[in-house]
Amino acid sequence: MNYNIETERLLLRPFTLDDLPAHLRMRVKEEVSRYLGGAALQTPQFVAERLQQYLECYRRHNFGVAAATEKSGGEMIGWGGLQPLEFGWNGLKPANEEASGEIEVGYSFDTPYWGKGYATEMAAAWLRYGFEEIGLARIVAVASPENKGSRHVMEKLGLSYETTEQHYGSECVVYAISRDEFKPRDSFYRLHDSGRTKGEDR
Ligand SMILES: CC(C)(COP(=O)(O)OP(=O)(O)OC[C@H]1O[C@@H](n2cnc3c(N)ncnc32)[C@H](O)[C@@H]1OP(=O)(O)O)[C@@H](O)C(=O)NCCC(=O)NCCS
Repeated sequence: MNYNIETERLLLRPFTLDDLPAHLRMRVKEEVSRYLGGAALQTPQFVAERLQQYLECYRRHNFGVAAATEKSGGEMIGWGGLQPLEFGWNGLKPANEEASGEIEVGYSFDTPYWGKGYATEMAAAWLRYGFEEIGLARIVAVASPENKGSRHVMEKLGLSYETTEQHYGSECVVYAISRDEFKPRDSFYRLHDSGRTKGEDR
């Protein structure tokens, strides 16, 4: 994965191993990790393994979970992207992620950046990438049933509730959207792919 996506306010770019300290700083926060397995899980080893899995996903699929920064500069403020559902959840051991055949969109931000529409803006860009560039027929999202903010993001993006089932070791609501249902938002999106730039003000 060697491309970046630019949205109205964000730059989405591949993680590198150098992002580990910043990624860890966000994940250890109680509020951030509440629905990501809890703060106790966010050890340096666990987060390093998640990072390795993000890189493994880039190699295997040419898409994955990316780091988000504000276009105005500064360090990473969040992360999100597309990946096979539960990709690499069992640490470094490849999980059974291809079994469902589903691709999920995910999103998380550091607390000072909540409530600004960033998760919606980022996830909308990834939906567009998934449908337009990868040619996916359908994208899902999963969240803890209590994660009202995340569910609201899904609903704002046009995903519909389908079912409640086990993912990431706990009960999750599953939302989905098909390519036919997806309507690109009227917002800035630009793909920078190995020098090729695609997208426009819409
Ligand atoms: C969930 C999360 C990604 C939302 O990010 P965000 O950038 O604040 O999301 P947005 O601003 O795009 O939209 C959130 C929407 O949910 C609403 N919302 C947030 N918390 C809510 C709550 N507890 N109850 C009801 N609505 C809530 C917001 O008001 C907003 O809706 P609005 O635009 O209609 O006002 C962010 O809180 C987060 O990173 N949480 C920790 C990690 C996490 O849980 N990630 C998702 C895993 S599934």
